[in-house]
Amino acid sequence: MEDKVTLTIGDNSYDCPVISGTEDEKAFDIRKLRSESGYISFDEGYGNTGSCQSNITFIDGEKGILRYRGYSIEELAEGSSFLESTYLIIYGELPNQDQLDKFREKVRVNADIHVGMDHHFEGFPTGSNPMAILSAMLNSLGCYYPEMTTNNRQQDLERFDEAAAVLLSKVRTIAAMTFRMKEGKPFVYPKRDLRYCENFLHMMFSNPYDDFEDEYGLAEALDLFFLLHADHEQNCSTSTVRMVASGGANMFASVSAGVSALWGPLHGGANQAVIGMLSQIHEAGDDGMKFIEAAKSGNAKLMGFGHRVYKNYDPRARILGEAAEKVLAAIGIDDDPLLKIARNLERAALEDKYFIERKLYPNVDFYSGLILKAAGIPVEFFTVMFAIGRMPGWMANWREVASNKKSKIHRPRQIYQGPGQREFLPMEKRG
Ligand code: SDX
Repeated sequence: MEDKVTLTIGDNSYDCPVISGTEDEKAFDIRKLRSESGYISFDEGYGNTGSCQSNITFIDGEKGILRYRGYSIEELAEGSSFLESTYLIIYGELPNQDQLDKFREKVRVNADIHVGMDHHFEGFPTGSNPMAILSAMLNSLGCYYPEMTTNNRQQDLERFDEAAAVLLSKVRTIAAMTFRMKEGKPFVYPKRDLRYCENFLHMMFSNPYDDFEDEYGLAEALDLFFLLHADHEQNCSTSTVRMVASGGANMFASVSAGVSALWGPLHGGANQAVIGMLSQIHEAGDDGMKFIEAAKSGNAKLMGFGHRVYKNYDPRARILGEAAEKVLAAIGIDDDPLLKIARNLERAALEDKYFIERKLYPNVDFYSGLILKAAGIPVEFFTVMFAIGRMPGWMANWREVASNKKSKIHRPRQIYQGPGQREFLPMEKRG
């Protein structure tokens, strides 16, 4: 294996040491390149650039592999829970029963929100996008915990365990309160005896006159949904969290920025766009084939397909596809038209040269919306659900930046293409 890469620029050569990862991924270190050669690298969209070295999640896009701290997503989906995998992602090891019980208890006792925050919801128009509310509320939440939001790394790190329990527990409560506000319904207080997803469904759908009954195992389906979304190495929103953390900002501010980065339709907003796409296909009386042709001619984008890293089937999509069928069958919806169209699109795309050549496979967002829709979650809350699931990954990445004494502020360079120097024009001389 090479231990360095030599770049030749004109008559000069520059040696860049090679960094190897656990799974033998290779990178050449160009941190000295500019000071030695005056050159920078250029990689718009960072598709070929490593921004950090991390111990949390490994993805092999060619082989469709995803592991949290070395454990495969398939085994975790089969054998663990969202909170158990959250503990693993954050602390690096699977918890024993005592550790898991203590972690669960910490999350459970943090479910309620300071009553002062109830009034914040009154300030939002009922038509507000839930992602705007969530991002704002996470920063507002930090105001109630000044000891965790000092922006002094050492102090914020010392309070990390409590801050993680606060954010993990209350992100769910804020989401449910947002839903109730938009529905014009009273907030539902969390219960101490319910588990994470059961309490979420309770806060979303219970009423003063009767509690929500989970007759179709929706809590179990949501637990799997959250687990599958818990981390995904340096995606757009997690890289944003690291960027904000690199400036020394506290974890509440960092995950609030992560929510904003997740919002767009190319990232976390895709799960909402998929349901919109499937509904549009259904309403047009198309079985999906016309849409496939439109996508191939560049007149439509097959939302929920394609990925910057996965050039194989996203392992999460496979698991979510099976889970969607299971939930719909439990509810008694055996012939959901949107699921049928999704299966048609998947089958067609996996056989069609256009998609095969571009290695476009279903990604995590392709089937996830069908589960959320079956659970009665409004479409505009789908990306909020993604944010709840991704909270563990964001917090683990914040902690990795904050605890690295050598971590530097993220500050990419650029190639300037604007006007050269020119003299100032007084107003009277302007056209
Ligand atoms: C998530 O990064 C992560 O890990 C994200 C995520 C996570 O867990 O955090 O996995 C979650 O964000 C999943 C992705 C959700 N987004 C979508 O489903 C939106 C639809 N997908 C595309 O927008 C696209 O595939 C991206 C944004 C996901 C990836 O874009 P890239 O890597 O920049 O690829 P590209 O846009 O340069 O496309 C390469 C080619 C192009 O064709 P050509 O110009 O070469 O002819 O593939 C085509 C694209 O037109 N293409 C698609 C397509 N995606 C790419 N054509 C039709 N439908 C699509 N969905």
